Amino acid sequence: MSLAPFGRRRGVCASIRKVGSYHLLELVDRDGPDPEPGQFYMLAAVSGWGAGTDERPFLPRAFSAMGGTDGRLWFMLEDIGPGTHRLARLQKGEPLWLTGPLGHGFRMPQDGRRPILTGGGVGVPPLVMWSQHLVEHGVARTLQFGFRDTSHAAVAASFDSVQIATDDGSVGHHGLVTDLLVRELDRDPHATVYSCGPPGMLEAVRRLCVDRGIPAQLALESGMACGFGACFGCVVPLVDGSYARVCVDGPVLDATALDHVPAH
Ligand SMILES: Cc1cc2nc3c(=O)[nH]c(=O)nc-3n(C[C@H](O)[C@H](O)[C@H](O)COP(=O)(O)OP(=O)(O)OC[C@H]3O[C@@H](n4cnc5c(N)ncnc54)[C@H](O)[C@@H]3O)c2cc1C
Ligand code: FES
Repeated sequence: MSLAPFGRRRGVCASIRKVGSYHLLELVDRDGPDPEPGQFYMLAAVSGWGAGTDERPFLPRAFSAMGGTDGRLWFMLEDIGPGTHRLARLQKGEPLWLTGPLGHGFRMPQDGRRPILTGGGVGVPPLVMWSQHLVEHGVARTLQFGFRDTSHAAVAASFDSVQIATDDGSVGHHGLVTDLLVRELDRDPHATVYSCGPPGMLEAVRRLCVDRGIPAQLALESGMACGFGACFGCVVPLVDGSYARVCVDGPVLDATALDHVPAH
């Protein structure tokens, strides 16, 4: 696991561009270690953060690394609220605060099981990084992403050999990405599933894999206030009756350990 240096530090926006409904953000981070696939960062702009009439966003926001090497980090975000709205408007050369890499990432499949990577929406970034890692290590993988529509699916044009599903049927399979997962598991169940996406999708993946006895590692996106274990704002229920903090025990957790994936 890559450990975050103590405290927040300054990074710099190297580039930001819009691809369909998402923003792809490249940061310079000279002082941090490279992230591992599945790890995340807490990001906040240096200016225009915690200001304005309602002072939102006050806290930094969590984002999965989509890539990271040699002092460069890549993220993909969707402008859905005050934090992502501000980050989407970063300018090249503008500084920002970052803390990370945080949490535990994905682990290699065991017993020769083939990895199936199933993601939805802003759950795509950690799976893109994990996919690259597997390919670099000579492990063949199946990649499948679900999006709302053409505009959201546009980002997938830059990913190699990916199965696409869209809610409106405008690209790829018309339906849920979990339909594609069922198809793959029916074809060959000797697999390990890696998944990240909205809570409803993750809960469907969890049930599917637990019911079939298939190992699954789920990258959760619980709401986070601190990102390093102090606030207990991110807890999820485990089957043994205890709770896990997604930021320090996860964000990648085994499907069999989770009682369910909370709606939020
Ligand atoms: C480990 C982790 C990794 C993440 N990676 C990414 C990423 O790569 N790209 C990306 O765009 N987003 C990612 N997120 C989600 C992102 O942190 C939230 O969407 C963020 O709160 C948005 O901030 P905001 O101020 O724009 O909107 P907010 O005002 O915080 O939220 C706007 C809406 O989104 C809902 N929401 C808030 N937080 C979450 C959440 N964590 N999950 C689902 N819905 C939420 C709220 O209920 C509200 O309806 C990640 C979250 C976690 C915990
Ligand atoms: S976000 Fe604070 S404990 Fe996890």
